Amino acid sequence: MNERHADRPVRIVVFTGAGVSAESGLATFRGVGGLWADFDPATLATPAAFARDPKRVWDWYVSRYVGVRASEPNAAHRAIARLERTFPSLLVVTQNIDRMHQRAGSSKVLELHGNIWNARCNACGREVDMATLVDIADSASDSPRCGCGGRMRPSVVWFGERLPEAVFEEAAESAADCDLFIAVGTSATVYPAAGLIELAARSGADVIEVNREETPLSHLADRVLREPAGEALPRLVDELELDPPTAGASLAKRE
Ligand code: APR
Repeated sequence: MNERHADRPVRIVVFTGAGVSAESGLATFRGVGGLWADFDPATLATPAAFARDPKRVWDWYVSRYVGVRASEPNAAHRAIARLERTFPSLLVVTQNIDRMHQRAGSSKVLELHGNIWNARCNACGREVDMATLVDIADSASDSPRCGCGGRMRPSVVWFGERLPEAVFEEAAESAADCDLFIAVGTSATVYPAAGLIELAARSGADVIEVNREETPLSHLADRVLREPAGEALPRLVDELELDPPTAGASLAKRE
């Protein structure tokens, strides 16, 4: 852990991907049963796809929104929210658009890829609650329009789009300054988000990877929990609560 932070409370960043919501019944993107196995992201998750066929893209996100709304946070989300009670400075940085962390009680969540609970006008930027538009979509022959005439789109970050700058900057600063970085349920293949794992490791943080499978960045982890997040995280949080890590003491030995 960062010797340089020995004089302050431990700072923890929890970085999550689709795998943390898998046990809530939400599909991941890659791997077995991943969305991109059945759908081509170039035809559904890019600005060009939306320009080409806004109704098709809109309907796909509405079906995902309905699925997210009908799902509940799982033991992994709840464990992360619990950890915040012991480590109030804990920050969740998520690639997920499902707001499961907030629904589980996490109060400090940075959404790198936006969220599916809101829609915004692609002309004037006006943002509204997705729920207000969902029923319209089903019957209409076109995707919903804003009062300004622009098209409403889900408030998510599509491939080829920039991440929200201030959000990413805060995530990067926190990754570079944390003592413990826990990467949960991400394939660590999509940048710039995956770069946060590298930044944390390079900055001297202890890195724990929680993932059922190996990832291209597993080698950066001081500790690997190769099991479902819903099983690994409650146990890891018990351990961190019972025996809180102190600045300067490596976590690697805790195998
Ligand atoms: N517990 C822990 N890990 C799991 C579980 C589980 N129950 N189920 C799956 N995983 C792991 C998989 O092994 C995989 O490494 O979660 C990872 C999910 O990877 P992806 O589907 O690639 O999801 P993610 O890393 O979040 O994708 C990044 O890509 O498609 C874009 O914008 C989208 O935010 C997304 C980004």
